[in-house]
Amino acid sequence: MSEELNNKIGNIIVVASGKGGVGKSTVSVNIAVALAAKGLKVGLLDADIYGPSIPIMLGLQDAKPGIAGDDEKQIFIPVEKYGLKLSSIGFYIQPGQALIWRGPMAASIFAQLLNNTDWGTLDYLIIDAPPGTGDIQLTLVQTAAVTGAVIVTTPQEVSLIDARKAIDMFKKPEIQVPVLGIIENMSWFTPEKHPDEKYYIFGKDGGKNTAEETHIALLGQIPLIQSICESGDNGIPSANVDNPLYRQIFAGIADNLINMTNIRNSVLKPTESVKMDPNAEGCGNQ
Ligand SMILES: Nc1ncnc2c1ncn2[C@@H]1O[C@H](COP(=O)(O)OP(=O)(O)OP(=O)(O)O)[C@@H](O)[C@H]1O
Ligand SMILES: [Mg+2]
Repeated sequence: MSEELNNKIGNIIVVASGKGGVGKSTVSVNIAVALAAKGLKVGLLDADIYGPSIPIMLGLQDAKPGIAGDDEKQIFIPVEKYGLKLSSIGFYIQPGQALIWRGPMAASIFAQLLNNTDWGTLDYLIIDAPPGTGDIQLTLVQTAAVTGAVIVTTPQEVSLIDARKAIDMFKKPEIQVPVLGIIENMSWFTPEKHPDEKYYIFGKDGGKNTAEETHIALLGQIPLIQSICESGDNGIPSANVDNPLYRQIFAGIADNLINMTNIRNSVLKPTESVKMDPNAEGCGNQ
């Protein structure tokens, strides 16, 4: 973290998955909102340099955050909404603009966003990671002293295989970021007119079983809900809408995350950011 900015960040949590499209950004946004609703100071960093979705998910497509500092060092002023401080590359590019930076460039932009954002004091910084186990993920653990990772997966085998790869990456001896929990997303579908029925579209309990096998806590199971999808598009996070079920789902996950973070902090030393040869090969395939 940048010394000059006086950023004081209690816990840095990376929300990751091996597979794309399993709900990392949705989960990141809603966990962050749920943590803030508990009175905690929360920041959210969109680390998906190639496909930033946080601005849309929070209705901030038109936000134009300020940039302070000078030519030598730019300081990003976070946007504030729903009680969160937010930073995303999406704020600095035209909507729909395709980013074609190669890995090292993207990694360096991520490092700037992380280090040069004026976060101030935070209890939690949630980082929404891009899918995979490649350059950005590596830079993430090289740049930040990550407290722990949360793995998002659907119950489907193709997602679970990639989730296990992501768990293995964080466990590597040269990385050693504790995995604080697994979140199973899209666990079942309940039609509105048949509230007692559950349809296990992507299989049943795949994330829960993987959590048991890997001795990692299951932080929660999130059903497939049409309005969770819609709220991603209309910029109002489900954890913020006045619906007791949604609030309860994400508040429960936030409680479990706080609990696992406290346990981790009581038994392990703070994570040190990993120093690696920047020319060395990555941790695995994207
Ligand atoms: N529980 C859910 N119920 C309904 N729709 C969901 C749920 N979780 C996620 N979605 C929808 O699924 C799609 C993918 O979610 P999201 O963008 O959060 O995934 P991601 O893992 O961040 O994707 P990427 O790997 O591309 O970054 C989005 O349209 C989102 O609204
Ligand atoms: Mg995403």
